[in-house]
Amino acid sequence: MTQFTNAELKAANAQRLLHPMANLAAMHHTPPDIIVKGEGSWIWDIDGHRMVDGVGGLWSANLGFGRKEIRDAVVAQLDELAFYNVFRGTTHPRAIELTEKLMQVMAPEQAGSVFFSNGGSDAVESALKLARQYWKIKGQADRSKFIALKQGYHGVHFGGMSVNGNTNFRRAYEPLLPGCFHVDTPWIYRNPYTVDPEALAIKCAEMLEREILFQSPDTVAAFIAEPVQGAGGVIVPPANYWPLVRKICDKYGVLLIADEVVTGFGRTGKLFGTRLWGVNADIWCLAKGISSGYVPLGATVLNAQLTDVFKQVDAGLATITHGYTYSAHPVAAAAAIATLDYLQRVDVVGNAEREGAHFMNRLHAIGRKHRLVGDVRGVGLMGCLELVADQKTKAAFPRGAKEVTQIAREAYTRGAMIRTSGANIILSPALTIERNQVDLLCDIIDASLTAVEG
Ligand SMILES: Cc1ncc(COP(=O)(O)O)c(C=O)c1O
Repeated sequence: MTQFTNAELKAANAQRLLHPMANLAAMHHTPPDIIVKGEGSWIWDIDGHRMVDGVGGLWSANLGFGRKEIRDAVVAQLDELAFYNVFRGTTHPRAIELTEKLMQVMAPEQAGSVFFSNGGSDAVESALKLARQYWKIKGQADRSKFIALKQGYHGVHFGGMSVNGNTNFRRAYEPLLPGCFHVDTPWIYRNPYTVDPEALAIKCAEMLEREILFQSPDTVAAFIAEPVQGAGGVIVPPANYWPLVRKICDKYGVLLIADEVVTGFGRTGKLFGTRLWGVNADIWCLAKGISSGYVPLGATVLNAQLTDVFKQVDAGLATITHGYTYSAHPVAAAAAIATLDYLQRVDVVGNAEREGAHFMNRLHAIGRKHRLVGDVRGVGLMGCLELVADQKTKAAFPRGAKEVTQIAREAYTRGAMIRTSGANIILSPALTIERNQVDLLCDIIDASLTAVEG
């Protein structure tokens, strides 16, 4: 195997690799940090600098790095059967086992079947396509539209991008999929309506209902949303929002798609984000934590009622004419089985809830102390500090503001990897993080803000 020296790695870094969500010229000017090793919640860069990982890979390495059970399962699977497809006619043991395991874990969700893919964007794309197909099988082909939330993030495929609620991810690739519409998200910190969370949820739910009525309910296939909006800035809805959404979807026969790519498998301190709100979706989009990010995997879960509709013996519309070469890839499936086994054996979700509560308390204390922090949001082990130019007026920092980058660099130097998106510091450490690591992460963020505030 070709192995570069450190000097060669640094010289070639970002010269020809088109990095996601990054500008090529900016990457040449400030090359990305090269991470070489991970163990639990620790990571090391190419110069041997150790950091606590506040990013969890990318909301993904939920069980931390170096988890032996996942590693062993992956290696054993590579030895046994590195790949076989699950297109009509063939399957393999791990595909069958993972399906059974996932259905067992999602029994309270009344899950009925699952379609596997390679990541979150695939999981969303598959959900949107299966939702349309469901209505076609049911003889309601006009139900093709999707409604989504502003500030939502649903990945980067044409469907997901079209339901994304942020111009940044849409602009360069427009025109997008027709028939996608957006309504306000219940965002306490920035909304023109009210400071009362419960009233805001009612207002936003009404806006969803009005949009469904405006479009005409018999043309709307589904409403898609994250139980807690992640990439949009960890926007946690008021507790009454999702129950209201469920009611409205039921009233007009609109499918509810929960995009749990981030919130699934414990991130919020509950196994699924929908459990946080006591609501069942009709379709779930899963990825990231399903395999602890060790091997790419996406999953789109249909509830039992939808599954029954797809069971119709019909060589035409009820046949799934959608699929990826690597659907249910055996190595990814092995990683996911080991992850789900671990989640059943060890109280990782409880740890996320307990450490998450401590983490959020610490973040709120940091928010009260620093003038650059306008708002602190989060639940479980997903947190966000929204940085502002002026706390009183909530004046936002312009994109690329130097203070934001400076804070991230200060944290890096002090020994913490944090992620900035716009003027948000977004935090999503491993769900197995320990108390001393949570404290270290928070101490470093605190010190970094102090350093930049001067
Ligand atoms: C809620 C949500 N949906 C979909 C995606 C897309 O997932 P992927 O990057 O694996 O395609 C993401 C990625 O962060 C996400 O946060």
